[in-house]
Amino acid sequence: MPRQFFVGGNFKMNPASREAKRTLIKTLNDAALDPSVGAQITFRFLTVYLTYVPAVWGMKDVKVAAQNCYVKLSGAFTGEISPSQLADAGIPYVVLGHSERRTLFHESSELVAQKTRVALDNGLSVILCVGETLSEREAEKTKEVVEKQLEPVTQQLKEADWQKIVIAYEPVWAIGTGKVASSAQAQQAHADIRAFLVKAVSPAVAESTRIIYGGSVTASNCKELATQKDLDGFLVGGASLKPEFVDIINATK
Ligand code: G3P
Repeated sequence: MPRQFFVGGNFKMNPASREAKRTLIKTLNDAALDPSVGAQITFRFLTVYLTYVPAVWGMKDVKVAAQNCYVKLSGAFTGEISPSQLADAGIPYVVLGHSERRTLFHESSELVAQKTRVALDNGLSVILCVGETLSEREAEKTKEVVEKQLEPVTQQLKEADWQKIVIAYEPVWAIGTGKVASSAQAQQAHADIRAFLVKAVSPAVAESTRIIYGGSVTASNCKELATQKDLDGFLVGGASLKPEFVDIINATK
């Protein structure tokens, strides 16, 4: 079965106001979105807006995702949100392991793997981010680094769990820099991840798991990237805040 294209917009801590979000949602609601991408579009809002935005403005064809969650389900963890609370609030997806979480908030691959386990156990689907820094790429360590990030996850998950995982390959040097990976670089990294899944999980999981690319994706570079055999969609930061996000969703049209 062909893998269905998956596009996510990661708003991070942007834009500043509800009003600005309303404009973005209106653009999407009014646009003709590729029906083959359909329900595979997700928007990552900050927790405070996750239920507000869809309830107040309505979101056509778009699901919401949280940008993080904690590894515990309840208790004295000020400032955290649990996966069971997200699920209870009707949020279907959570992003885990984003490089900003790994770098700025010191999240280890082991913690990301534990969070992934708990998120799945509580009914969420997970967009799991991996990717190398510039110095790691220059030292030709991309494959090794990404495999080390994925390994603890493969230890936590059973084969059936992978149906609820989308892997986002996001080279750190391409995030928010305007320096997109070339389609050959992206394809190589995605093919390496798929080959790793064959060994570490199973050929069937390797074949069916979506591996999406993130890092300075724009309307002008998405079409070429989308032609790559192992690239199954995008995770978009900056450009998801602009009307060009519609063109990125429609990249395979
Ligand atoms: O999660 C998406 C991301 O980090 C890429 O951001 O702004 O380079 O598209 P950007």
